[in-house]
Amino acid sequence: MARIGIFDSGSGGLSVYRELVKLLPLEQYRYYADNSHCPYGEKSPLYIQRRARFITERFLDWKADIIVVACNTATAAAIATLRKEYPDVPFVGMEPAVKPAALGTETGVIGVLATAGTLKGSKYLNTRGLYESDVKIVEHVGQGFVELVERGILDGPEAEKTVKASLQPLLDAGADRIVLGCTHYPFLKPVIERLSGPGVQVIDPAPAVARQTLRILQDCGVATGIGPFSIILEASGSTEPLNRIFELI
Ligand code: DGL
Repeated sequence: MARIGIFDSGSGGLSVYRELVKLLPLEQYRYYADNSHCPYGEKSPLYIQRRARFITERFLDWKADIIVVACNTATAAAIATLRKEYPDVPFVGMEPAVKPAALGTETGVIGVLATAGTLKGSKYLNTRGLYESDVKIVEHVGQGFVELVERGILDGPEAEKTVKASLQPLLDAGADRIVLGCTHYPFLKPVIERLSGPGVQVIDPAPAVARQTLRILQDCGVATGIGPFSIILEASGSTEPLNRIFELI
């Protein structure tokens, strides 16, 4: 049985947990929502590194076998530092799924929705550099998306209005692939898909991250699939938003 620690600035990382538990249903999970410091999107890398270190220590006290940084912004800001400071701990991070979008687009335009921190990060900029000579890449911060999800507003007029404001510029540019570059955004996928229309594919990288987690556990020789399943949900602020999304999934 593997001990899997997962963290995010809030409830968004549950979109990754949702995929992990499909592949690895019989493990022990611990999820930490750093929601008293949410959103991470506009915070400095140093600030996020401090938070990531604090959460990592918590997971290591619990004897985690692997830590999933289920947050694109924290991956961009802190995963390199975490890997340097904890060389024996396997970390799995998020990355906007630019590659499948670039390979699949028919219009030659892909749209990326992410936080400002992710879009400024060197990891994303490097990936972008690999594809931007072949396809046009347009980006937009999902303004207000994280706050919507934390308030449990996943559909309805307010969600539509907020999503449309950031999504429309990408659609107007001709994007037929929309990359969800923040783990909160998959909870708004039904709205994003509805507003995008049938010709547009919305891409969530969480299933790929779950497969990568399984591969790393196997490479590290951690036994999986034995059970029993358990999950601890904790937050630096109120656990209410977290429980609300957890109930949903
Ligand atoms: N879920 C996040 C991400 O993947 C964090 C968003 C935020 O806190 O701004 O980037």
